Amino acid sequence: MCGIIGYTGKQEAGPILLDGLQRLEYRGYDSAGLAVCRGGSAHASPQVVKKAGRVEVLSRLVKEAHLRGSCGIGHTRWATHGRVSDNNAHPHVSSDGAIVLAHNGVIENFLQLRQSLEKLGYTFQSETDTEVLANLIALHYARLKEGNGTHNVLEEAVRQSLAEVEGTYGIAVLSVDDPETIIGARKGSPLVLGVGNGEKMLASDVTAFAGRMQSVVYLDDGQIVRMDRDNFSISTLSNESVAPVLSKITWRSEDAELGDFPHYMLKEIFDQPASLENAMRGRFSQDGSTAQFGGLNMGPRELRQVDRILFLGCGTAWHACLIAKHMIEKYARIPVDVDYASEFRYRNSPLEKNTLVFTVSQSGETLDTLEAQREAKRKGYRVLSILNVVGSTMARENDGGIYQHSGPEIGVASTKAFTAQVLVATMIALYFGRMRDMSFADGREMVDAVRELPGLVKQVLAGAANIEKIARKYAAMNDFLFLGRLEMFPVALEGALKLKEISYIHAEGYPAAEMKHGPIALICGKCPTVVIAMKGEMLKKCLSSIQEVKARKGPVIVITNCPGDIPAGLADETIVLPPSHECVQPILATIPLQLLSYYIAVARGCDVDKPRNLAKSVTVE
Ligand code: F6R
Repeated sequence: MCGIIGYTGKQEAGPILLDGLQRLEYRGYDSAGLAVCRGGSAHASPQVVKKAGRVEVLSRLVKEAHLRGSCGIGHTRWATHGRVSDNNAHPHVSSDGAIVLAHNGVIENFLQLRQSLEKLGYTFQSETDTEVLANLIALHYARLKEGNGTHNVLEEAVRQSLAEVEGTYGIAVLSVDDPETIIGARKGSPLVLGVGNGEKMLASDVTAFAGRMQSVVYLDDGQIVRMDRDNFSISTLSNESVAPVLSKITWRSEDAELGDFPHYMLKEIFDQPASLENAMRGRFSQDGSTAQFGGLNMGPRELRQVDRILFLGCGTAWHACLIAKHMIEKYARIPVDVDYASEFRYRNSPLEKNTLVFTVSQSGETLDTLEAQREAKRKGYRVLSILNVVGSTMARENDGGIYQHSGPEIGVASTKAFTAQVLVATMIALYFGRMRDMSFADGREMVDAVRELPGLVKQVLAGAANIEKIARKYAAMNDFLFLGRLEMFPVALEGALKLKEISYIHAEGYPAAEMKHGPIALICGKCPTVVIAMKGEMLKKCLSSIQEVKARKGPVIVITNCPGDIPAGLADETIVLPPSHECVQPILATIPLQLLSYYIAVARGCDVDKPRNLAKSVTVE
């Protein structure tokens, strides 16, 4: 949700900032911009280039502008305050020309601040809350300079301004007087400092500078960083100095590269045999009968006290939570509740005493999930997480958790992160199950099934050409239904969400039996129904639902691991999954749905990796 970047060093800043913006583009792509100062030439106006549209458009303008300078900031926008326009693109320059600012977040009291600033003569070119903050910093900066302040004036001006601001921010600030220094600050929006050899970077996440910086400092809310090419210092909003904790960057820059794939989404779908392998690596007990996790910070005795589990997440992660419920209730017999993080944080729901809370998030930054985590912690509950991004805010604030190790997920529609979340949840079910009633033999069987998963996923991926053919045939439809029973219901929800997100086709997921209670009214020749019909007790029920669709002339696409049990001629299209243990079926059934939505979106000419109106990592409410 908006990406910000900053560079100060010896190299030309322009190309480095553009490269970072390209890698951050998944956070927002309504407009992009950058500002570069020429090192050593104090009082030179910053060179600002910004434009509505993608980073690609900005790149062309930057080349034409022949920017020179070794310090600068950049921004890629997901619009909140103010429409998508050149004027509203960041960075914003204060009306006196002294301050340049890129911002991620929302300044809630921007209107009052703007009115006060207007009375003092500051003027505005845009509708954004960010330009208000740029002018506010300029006001404090001018006053501090008037008072003959010289030492860290910019940092102090930022500190004083942020004390007046309500809302959330991750900011990067430049002043024309000190063109080699960048000030960053965060509250509610992520910001990381990259420390390299004679250069520093600031960014919304490490993907922006992985491969260039050696170490990273994850800033906490309420912290301000001051950086130039050789030094940096971190302090709090109340000006107490903070000892930095340097961490190594675990992601390689090539992990975030497209390779030979046309889109990140397709690359990430095909990454899944490896990302699932990574999620399970080192997590089986030596005797192969259960799972083990290093970061729970809870011993088996404590875990055995857990009477209830609550899973919280948003969007696709919420679907993973729903599958977690099925898995844990089935294999560990512990009751599980699932809530949208955004609802939980406001509902004040009563929780039972021995409830363990899990937050699930790819980014670890989704504001609703983060706030739900904080609320559960405020209430005194132990909160563990399933997360992908190491060092993310949720990771730093939880009581422990499990990293899914999926590597960077760049495609806005989540794919490999989802299947890894489901896998981790399945392994949690195994772990808790073995602590309770699951036998050694059943544990071994489940471990073997999980170990086979990457190979089975490869088999499903090998059928991509068939799925592409089906996708082309149905790409012009305007409505889709997705049906499944039990743990395949959340898989159906996920299939519908993927399709909606990237192809803009109206799609709904239902437990198959619910169709007759309303959605059946949609069925017609132009509304295909995708039914996940797996071997087992629910198969007959799914077949009845298919009959009901066929009776109303609806096209049916069946995803099944028992094609021989589907009466001939019942399905219009069949996607066959390899036989497997039930515990890995939700993951296997998800893969064809990801491919189906991908190929439909491509056939419709949609921008798969950057669907309209969306952004990855939703750090506003
Ligand atoms: C859908 C998608 C979103 C995210 C949701 C939560 O494809 O990506 O629905 O799942 O915004 O994001 P994280 O997992 O980062 O908390």
